[in-house]
Amino acid sequence: MKIGIVGTGNMGEAILKGLLNNVVSAQDIVCVDKVQASVDHISQRYQVVCSTEISAIKDCDVVVLGVKPQNMDEVLPLIGKHINQNTLIISIAVGLTSSYIVKNLGITNAAVVRAMPNTPALVGKGVTGLAKGEFATAEHLAIAKNLLAAVGQVVVVEENLIDVVAATSGSGPAYYFFVTELLIESAVKHGLTRDVAQVLVENTFMGSSALFESSADDVVELRRKVTSPQGTTQAAIEFLESKDLKGIWENALGAAIKRAEEISKN
Ligand SMILES: NC(=O)c1ccc[n+]([C@@H]2O[C@H](COP(=O)([O-])OP(=O)(O)OC[C@H]3O[C@@H](n4cnc5c(N)ncnc54)[C@H](OP(=O)(O)O)[C@@H]3O)[C@@H](O)[C@H]2O)c1
Repeated sequence: MKIGIVGTGNMGEAILKGLLNNVVSAQDIVCVDKVQASVDHISQRYQVVCSTEISAIKDCDVVVLGVKPQNMDEVLPLIGKHINQNTLIISIAVGLTSSYIVKNLGITNAAVVRAMPNTPALVGKGVTGLAKGEFATAEHLAIAKNLLAAVGQVVVVEENLIDVVAATSGSGPAYYFFVTELLIESAVKHGLTRDVAQVLVENTFMGSSALFESSADDVVELRRKVTSPQGTTQAAIEFLESKDLKGIWENALGAAIKRAEEISKN
């Protein structure tokens, strides 16, 4: 199977790296990027064919679209000239519906699968939500699942829920880093030096993730084990609950979903 990746920025490169490590050999991949310097970087680093010409993807069975949504209007009609109805298109663009992609490719009934990865894909620990478009089959979905599994876990949802995936796990790494940042700031405010606060918070979060991964307990039980009745942790959690932290998170996710709908193109 020959795979093309158009747009080898953060996500495109992460997917390329994962595919080479796990699924395909370098001669089965072709990359396209806009700037010659990026093309040189990719071809030297990964020993794959890389070009500034979209026509390089002409023999590909699968084309991964890794360009930003605002570049899709320009890229889709060009790709449409070099593929056919049998080509599987995997789009990682936030907000662009499969029908929009089909329409702009100009290929009747094009098989499109939307994928929503996240940045831990850069270290092979991403999670991707997949949704098949109207003309993609279960077989197309299985191919996409196999390819995206190269950069982490994969879940499948209906396309109308892909914005919720984007708001949850696509944006998720930013929530994690933001909470890390806020906890460091709070510890500094209460007297720790920044260096010490940083070591404590970063290692607490990384250690908790490792504990979660290796434990049979779910998150609720793991939290309960740290929260002794009438203890210090309970005091902090009760304060957060009194400020309706649950409602705040629901509204934050709601805001991200609303934004995805606003920038969505059908
Ligand atoms: N980053 C995330 O957390 C995340 C999560 C989920 C989904 N996504 C989606 O992933 C996609 C890529 O995001 P990213 O963060 O990887 O962006 P990025 O780093 O900017 O990568 C996009 C790449 O596409 C290239 N490009 C632009 N126009 C092109 C063209 N006409 N032909 C070929 N290549 C072209 C860009 O080149 P130049 O730099 O020279 O313009 C750049 O190398 C977006 O659609 C985004 O919605 C991102």
